Amino acid sequence: MTAMSTVSATPKIDFSGVSKTFHVRGQEVQALQPVDLQVRKEEFVALVGPSGCGKSTLLNLVAGLLEPTSGSVTYDGKPVSGLNFRVGYMTQKDTLLPWRTVNDNIGVSLELSCRSTPRAELKERVAQMVDLVGLRGFENHFPTELSGGMRKRVALARTLIYRPETLLMDEPFGALDAQLKLIMQDQLQKITQHQKMTVLFVTHDLAEAIAVADRVVVFSARPGRIRAVRDVPLDRPRDIFKVRFAESFSRLHEDLWDELKDEVVKGTDV
Ligand SMILES: Nc1ncnc2c1ncn2[C@@H]1O[C@H](COP(=O)(O)OP(=O)(O)OP(=O)(O)O)[C@@H](O)[C@H]1O
Ligand SMILES: [Mg+2]
Repeated sequence: MTAMSTVSATPKIDFSGVSKTFHVRGQEVQALQPVDLQVRKEEFVALVGPSGCGKSTLLNLVAGLLEPTSGSVTYDGKPVSGLNFRVGYMTQKDTLLPWRTVNDNIGVSLELSCRSTPRAELKERVAQMVDLVGLRGFENHFPTELSGGMRKRVALARTLIYRPETLLMDEPFGALDAQLKLIMQDQLQKITQHQKMTVLFVTHDLAEAIAVADRVVVFSARPGRIRAVRDVPLDRPRDIFKVRFAESFSRLHEDLWDELKDEVVKGTDV
């Protein structure tokens, strides 16, 4: 094996025996049982599983916001320690700055990550992002003046604008209506392929997971463990608007739903 092939074989993200237990007011909550998962460079991996099974926790570990209780999380072969600035993170809760307009919220990550960006370029890139997420006409609105779905779209634009090599996305399209969801999935597919991004994408929507990803990982109810992993047998780029009608799509959907449904029921037992 050559030095080059050794490098390219290193996973972009490697969860090895990763577990996480939280201690909250004297109580232990085991969020994750040991998880082993490798994400290849430029791979698009979707994570699905019942509420509370540790999906956001996994993204937080890659972003360096949390440390595992056991095992290791490596990024490009190095343990994640401290904030991971190589990833763009669209968190589950939107964290728009209430005192900044749409334009200024979108530009903020570029202003912070790349202070040398000339003013004119910043303006142009913000305008491109506004168009991309369909918010033309709302540039000068403040977050309180937007709908839930519009706020999500601002958060997406803010994450994409600085072109991170890896995207962590936590239910990015959950608040969007069905049609807009398809349009955003299509845009995301185009951008991530064009910019050769690696993506870890959390969703509750199994059909969405299959439509956008190269690989779908189904988690069990808490404490989360990997219950099933499947490759999506469809080439990318895909016709997001038609892919659901492919026979291989419905076969995989049925197969993964069989895995997921028991866990969703367990996850709602209280
Ligand atoms: N910072 C934290 N402190 C304490 N407990 C936490 C923390 N973050 C997560 N947990 C707990 O860990 C478990 C997993 O949480 P997590 O947010 O990862 O689930 P999830 O799969 O993303 O759920 P959902 O689909 O509802 O977003 C939950 O029981 C939650 O209460
Ligand atoms: Mg979550």
